[in-house]
Amino acid sequence: MAHQIVEGIMSEGVEAKMHFIRYDPESDILADILDSKAIVLGVPTMMNNPYPKIGNLLAYLSCVSPANTGVRKKAALFSSKGWAGGAIAKLTTALTDAGFDVLEDEAIEEIYVPDDNDLDKCYDLGKKLAQMVKE
Ligand SMILES: Cc1cc2nc3c(=O)[nH]c(=O)nc-3n(C[C@H](O)[C@H](O)[C@H](O)COP(=O)(O)O)c2cc1C
Repeated sequence: MAHQIVEGIMSEGVEAKMHFIRYDPESDILADILDSKAIVLGVPTMMNNPYPKIGNLLAYLSCVSPANTGVRKKAALFSSKGWAGGAIAKLTTALTDAGFDVLEDEAIEEIYVPDDNDLDKCYDLGKKLAQMVKE
């Protein structure tokens, strides 16, 4: 899903950088977020919440107040779930509190493994987000 979103962003000639919470230090991710006009966050659901590893990054973001960079940053979200989900709602609250404009209506939440339709939606989300930051 992340790859299709990045392809969608780059199809508009907008630069995109991908990080993996599992491997990349939060400090590096945070530095890139502060330099960006928008972020896309993807997290699976665990016990009605975003997968816990995202917690550190959310804590950093709530401390740093990215809105203070002078650029009101947009945030788009995607998630996988097995049944009722819940990650998107929690991420929306956390990022809104941290000062992001979350594209709530555009969030993609799919069940288990994404199908071709889900992947197309991801590409379109990336494209739309890129168009917004170019405005
Ligand atoms: C420990 C555990 C807890 C989970 N809790 C939820 C949940 O509360 N709600 C939900 O919709 N899916 C839940 N899921 C399903 C995962 O979100 C789903 O398996 C994942 O998004 C798809 O990734 P996968 O293909 O790696 O399993 C849970 C899965 C595991 C393993």
